[in-house]
Amino acid sequence: MSQAFSIRVQQSGAEYSCAPDDTVLRAGLRAGIGLSYECNVGSCGSCKFEVVEGEVRSLWEEAPGLNPRDRQRGRLLACQCVPVSDCVIKPMIIDDHFIPTDTPRRFTSELVAIRDLTHDIREFVFTDSQPAGFRPGQYALLHLPGVNGPRAYSMSNIRNPEGRWEFIIRKVPNGAGTAALFELKVGDRIDIDGPYGLAYLRTEVKRTVVCIGGGSGLAPMLSIARGMVADPSMDGVKLKFFYGARGPRDLCGEDELKALPGFGDRIEFFPALSDPDLAKAGSWTGLLGFIHEQVKAHIPADQLMECEFYTCGPPVMINAVMQMLGGELKVPPDRIHYDSFV
Ligand SMILES: Cc1cc2nc3c(=O)[nH]c(=O)nc-3n(C[C@H](O)[C@H](O)[C@H](O)COP(=O)(O)OP(=O)(O)OC[C@H]3O[C@@H](n4cnc5c(N)ncnc54)[C@H](O)[C@@H]3O)c2cc1C
Ligand code: FES
Repeated sequence: MSQAFSIRVQQSGAEYSCAPDDTVLRAGLRAGIGLSYECNVGSCGSCKFEVVEGEVRSLWEEAPGLNPRDRQRGRLLACQCVPVSDCVIKPMIIDDHFIPTDTPRRFTSELVAIRDLTHDIREFVFTDSQPAGFRPGQYALLHLPGVNGPRAYSMSNIRNPEGRWEFIIRKVPNGAGTAALFELKVGDRIDIDGPYGLAYLRTEVKRTVVCIGGGSGLAPMLSIARGMVADPSMDGVKLKFFYGARGPRDLCGEDELKALPGFGDRIEFFPALSDPDLAKAGSWTGLLGFIHEQVKAHIPADQLMECEFYTCGPPVMINAVMQMLGGELKVPPDRIHYDSFV
């Protein structure tokens, strides 16, 4: 194995070691340094940094997380850079808030089960020889054969001693990662790196939990629901689970939620369809409209201020939810936890 490089953070003087095939971001997080990040896949721009001394190599020059001004200033993405020498770096943001609660690790896993949930959403179950340690709502990076760069997927289960990592993934038309993933067979092995992400269940907060998921955003919301019922300190905390899909054939998740104790009582489920034509064609008699609108329709405004929100899904849905909660209803930002599936 090639020798690791030393990376020093200019602001704090903290030093860590980074293998030549590890990224500046992920090696820093593994070393317990609070480097700022969100997506881990080059899209959001939260991990921008500058190289003060030394040299790094970018794995994805065109990553959308950098704008032309960043490029002009020589800024880079820590999630897309590997070191080629010892370095001194200047991250744009460092905060203890980003220090991982479970140290992320890269391991080889075996695919042990595949299950169709809808026409284009599948559950994939991988196992590892070590216990699976992560918080409900977090994600991992899947390294897929023949695909440039890993892809981020949220776990749908919770930490477990058996080493099971479960994912619910929608096949994206013309997507390179999901094309490779949907070709995998039981018994195939891939590398997984995780856990990552900050939109995890805050078990110390006892406010009513509101989960808002759309499409493939089901996985982390399910993990949060499962995490709540598995944690005795959250007994009595209510859960309102909103899930949006386009048409009847895109809906899933009800069976998994129904299997949880308290379904229909402590746990309320609000599935809604956004496409009225598809709903009508499928004889749907349930809720209609965008999922964020259902939240406002089913929780009175004064109660909304007393809830803790978790939301995951496509960027357009996250933007609508954030606009409604933060912009219109003035819910304090520290009560809203989200991952945008950029
Ligand atoms: C935090 C997070 C959690 C997510 N959880 C889920 C989930 O639970 N279920 C689900 O279905 N989807 C999830 N997604 C979306 C998922 O990561 C993929 O974006 C989606 O599956 C499409 O991938 P694709 O490879 O098929 O499409 P593509 O269009 O081929 O790839 C899109 C993704 O790959 C990255 N990418 C593209 N090219 C490169 C490159 N050359 N080098 C490095 N990276 C590249 C992009 O940043 C983008 O993230 C999540 C996304 C994020 C950010
Ligand atoms: S964390 Fe690097 S671009 Fe999102």
